[in-house]
Amino acid sequence: MAPMTLDSTAALLIKGYAWLPDLRRRSDGRLVRTRLLGHPTVALHGPDAVPFFYDENHVRRHDALPGPVLDTLFGRGAVHTLDAEEHRVRKGLFVGELTDPAGVAELVDRVRDEWQRTFARPPGREIVLFDEAAHVLARAVCAWAGLPLTREQTERMAEDCVAMVDGFATAGPRHLRARRARARQEQLLARLVEEARGGASRAPATPFDAVVRHRDADGEELDARTAAVELLNIVRPTVAIAWFVAFAAHAMDRWPARRHLLREDDGSYSEPYTETYAEPFAHEVRRFYPFAPFVGGLAATDLRRDGEEIPAGTLVLLDVYGQNHDPELWRDPYRFDPERFMRRAPLRDELIPQGGGDAKSGHRCPGEDITVAVLAALSTELSRMDYTVPEQDLRIPLHRVPTRPRSGFRFVPSPT
Ligand code: HEM
Repeated sequence: MAPMTLDSTAALLIKGYAWLPDLRRRSDGRLVRTRLLGHPTVALHGPDAVPFFYDENHVRRHDALPGPVLDTLFGRGAVHTLDAEEHRVRKGLFVGELTDPAGVAELVDRVRDEWQRTFARPPGREIVLFDEAAHVLARAVCAWAGLPLTREQTERMAEDCVAMVDGFATAGPRHLRARRARARQEQLLARLVEEARGGASRAPATPFDAVVRHRDADGEELDARTAAVELLNIVRPTVAIAWFVAFAAHAMDRWPARRHLLREDDGSYSEPYTETYAEPFAHEVRRFYPFAPFVGGLAATDLRRDGEEIPAGTLVLLDVYGQNHDPELWRDPYRFDPERFMRRAPLRDELIPQGGGDAKSGHRCPGEDITVAVLAALSTELSRMDYTVPEQDLRIPLHRVPTRPRSGFRFVPSPT
């Protein structure tokens, strides 16, 4: 008989990012067992556990995510909730042209242009970097994706995407805002999808067209609402790079020598792995700062791990934040040190801020190349600006999911 385990939901809400690492410390090397919302749960940790977790014979995603997370963060029927053939065919939308090097480079150019336009004439007042970055990213990604939105709708999209991410893991007003934001944007995008379908059929030249024309594993087009959900799965996480931009600013403020190296970076490093400082810097921001605490699915069948049984249907979590700070994997894990990524590329299942395994065949994030390239570009832009940083609360509370510097990083760009 399985041993009795205590429910951990309250502890998760109180401790946030520290919850799973704490449980792990107390488990004495045994498999972490607990309950979430009454559901039997185990947590896996470490690069060896990553292929085990991403093997779809072990862990499935259907019915794994709670309704409040779907109604805010991901959307009902999203690629995140599919398994096997259905998942592979839908995932094709995200791992083909959308994220090929040419597509990524075009998006980065658009983001950089938007940033430079925004800061061409310093406004002579204080700016909240997090908010401004979200708007810059939304303008760039909506245009890149070919969404036929007005300027006003694009600005609203920026705010709604932030709300969807900010409110998924909490109750109360933040959560309500997130639900309303998703409902509003799904409705708008579904209408645009229907209008596009009423028009002349075109080859999929933009991500919008590709989603509109996509056929699922059953050969059918996506219903307009699901198409809207997948469009949001391109736009929302790209806007969410604003969290990493705020963290990058925090890192530059705290460790000015790192900022100096970024500023001086002219792409002429000849380290075995990299020619730039910006890319290792972006990897270190993704490793060091907290964003996704863990990912999860349901045991597809009775499993065995580390000599212990995991009955079918158990909620299986993979410890993301803990792995990215594991001293067995990272020397001085709480030291912000981009140099650790200069000598060699991060191993596939070692650095997992956006999931592990293979993005094409599994559930790993298809937007990693976009995230790294956009973050590297904006970190470099920021490092080259002259600005002052007023007194503010830059603490990053670990109990809040997702977290960010409390002030959003306020700064005053200097006139040039
Ligand atoms: C999945 C994080 C940016 C699209 C994921 C997952 C994480 C993640 C943790 C779940 C992996 C799993 O379930 O095992 C992030 C973070 C980002 C980011 C922290 C940067 C702020 C992006 C971008 C895009 C994107 C830029 C697209 C343009 C997706 C999609 C999935 C996903 C479609 C679902 C994949 C699947 O279930 O097969 N992301 N992501 N993400 N991400 Fe990202």
